[in-house]
Amino acid sequence: MEVVIRPADELAVLAADVIEAQLRKAPNSVLGLATGSSPLRVYQELIRRHQESGLSFARARGFTLDEYVGLPADHPQRYRNVIAEEFVDHLDWPAEQVQGPDGSAADLTAACAAYEQEIKAAGGVDIQLLGIGTDGHIAFNEPGSSLASRTRIKSLTRQTRRDNARFFDGEISRVPVHCLTQGLGTISEARHLILLAFGEEKAEAVHQLVEGPVSARWPATVMQFHPHVTVLVDDAAASRLELADYYRQTYACKPEWQGL
Ligand code: F6R
Repeated sequence: MEVVIRPADELAVLAADVIEAQLRKAPNSVLGLATGSSPLRVYQELIRRHQESGLSFARARGFTLDEYVGLPADHPQRYRNVIAEEFVDHLDWPAEQVQGPDGSAADLTAACAAYEQEIKAAGGVDIQLLGIGTDGHIAFNEPGSSLASRTRIKSLTRQTRRDNARFFDGEISRVPVHCLTQGLGTISEARHLILLAFGEEKAEAVHQLVEGPVSARWPATVMQFHPHVTVLVDDAAASRLELADYYRQTYACKPEWQGL
């Protein structure tokens, strides 16, 4: 696991560099997309590169991590709509090549199984972008999630619903209680995990992710088992890392030829 502690703008460029290199090497790559505020700078940087230097997504596939259950198709916070509005619609990426779990399916269990199949049929995810919840969730794998879990229905914690109320006019009662989410086992199969976290409110979750014991109590700790993880954090999100100096020094001494 590599931990990079740098200002947010610089981290967005680093993450975009990895994605650009992947797309230039293999234009039909499969990208795992997160919603929420953490990846927004990366998306803006990739949009800029698409517009200014022709970076193309035309042959790529995309899979989002999760979706609320029960939001109407035109709801602005439906993650399908969020990812279209914030990212996909600004690119040459055909909408049908970007999929998410179907939170309005009549049979949600079948929709989860179908989503797993779609990811598998696409050959798996090459690069998975992730944010982290203040309670240590990745995607919507809340505390207590099985470390081997697959795409399924979950209940959101009160803490997550409170955190996300900012997207629902500050009204926690408007935040859905249920979601569909890729499981920790599903996410762990992506070939490169890139997690972004900013701000003091993420500091404890980041500390647990990097330095805590692996436990369903802090679901993101499952990433410690993964062979290729990059954790991109600003100073505030890194403020509880016990070995922050070591991570800073390691990155400062990193040979230029060694990418993320
Ligand atoms: C969203 C997702 C969540 C968020 C997390 C952090 O698709 O999977 O795990 O990444 O809740 O959200 P932000 O980035 O808004 O702080």
